[in-house]
Amino acid sequence: MIIDPTNVVNHKDFHDLLLGTIAPRPIALASTVDAKGNVNLSPFSFFNIFSSRPPILVFSPSRRQRDNTTKHTLENMLDIKEVVINTVNYAMVEQISLASAEYPKGINEFVKSGLTPIKSERVKPPRVKESPASFECRVLEIKTLGTEGGSGNLVTCEVLLVHTQEFIYNEKGKVDPRKVDSVARMGGDYYCRINGDNIFELPRPVAGIGVDQLPDHIRNSPVLTGNNLGRLASIDKIPMPSEVKSFAENFDYNLLWRNNGGNRIDAIHNHAQLLLDRGEVKKAWLLLLSASYQTELWN
Ligand SMILES: Cc1cc2nc3c(=O)[nH]c(=O)nc-3n(C[C@H](O)[C@H](O)[C@H](O)COP(=O)(O)O)c2cc1C
Repeated sequence: MIIDPTNVVNHKDFHDLLLGTIAPRPIALASTVDAKGNVNLSPFSFFNIFSSRPPILVFSPSRRQRDNTTKHTLENMLDIKEVVINTVNYAMVEQISLASAEYPKGINEFVKSGLTPIKSERVKPPRVKESPASFECRVLEIKTLGTEGGSGNLVTCEVLLVHTQEFIYNEKGKVDPRKVDSVARMGGDYYCRINGDNIFELPRPVAGIGVDQLPDHIRNSPVLTGNNLGRLASIDKIPMPSEVKSFAENFDYNLLWRNNGGNRIDAIHNHAQLLLDRGEVKKAWLLLLSASYQTELWN
C-alpha cells in the first residue's frame, strides 16, 4: 500500500498504522508536578534518547484523538519545567498500563498504580522506585507539532541526574539486557518483552566489503538469505586463494554429501549457512569459495 498523509480519511486508522509500523518503542514513565505540587505519572512510548553529551531525552504527550484536549503531563511541564523519566520492565508493566488510564487532573497515578514514589534530588517530581533506571530532567523545550487531535508536543529534556538499580548490571559493570527484562510498546494493545531468544548479539562491522563485492555465486545463492549475505559482506577482505586451497584440502566434503543429499552446491551453501548461524564467518567464506574451483576434490 502507498499512503499519502495529506489524503488520509480516517486519522485513527492512520495513527494505528504508524504505531504498528514504528515499533517496538521504548516506554518513558513520566513523573511531573503541577504548580500546586500535585503529582502525575503517565507512560509515553513516543520516547527516545537523542544525545549523550549533553544527555538529551525526548518524548511526546499528544493531543487526545477523542476530544483534542491536552494531557496533564504536558500541562504540568508548561507550569513546572521538570520531569523524571523512569524506564519500564516486565515486572511493572500492568502497573504502568493502569497509570495510563484517564484519571481526572490532580489524581496521583502513583497512588492508583501502586508504584512507589521516591523523593528526587534535583527536581520536584518524584521518581519511581521499581524502575530499572530513572532520569531527573530539566525541560529545555516543548515544541508544539500541531493543533488537532493526535498532534504531538515534542518535549526535549536534559538529564540532570541518573539513578540505576544494581540488578541491571553484569559482573563487568555493563548493563545486561537479560537482567533488565525491558518491555516496549507496539501497535494496538501489543507489547513486547525483551528477554531470552529475543536478545542477540551482532558484531559491529569494521569496514565491511559490502554485498556488491560478493562473488556472483555467493550473491545469487539459492540458499543464503539477506542476513547471511549481510554477515558475509561485513568482513574487511575476502580470504586469499591460498587459504581457500588449504581449507579445501583438509575439509571433509564427504560428510557434507552424507548429511545433505542432492545438489552439491546446495549442500555447500546449507552448511555455510549453518556456520554463519554459529558465527563462524571466516569458515563459511572458505567453504563457499572452495566450491568455485575445488570441484575436482569432490570426486
Ligand atoms: C505504554 C503506553 C504508551 C503510551 N504512549 C503515549 C505517548 O507516547 N503519547 C501520548 O500522548 N500518550 C501515550 N499513552 C497514553 C497516555 O499514557 C495516557 O493518555 C495518559 O492518560 C496520559 O496521562 P496524563 O493526562 O495524566 O498525562 C501511552 C499509554 C501507554 C499504556
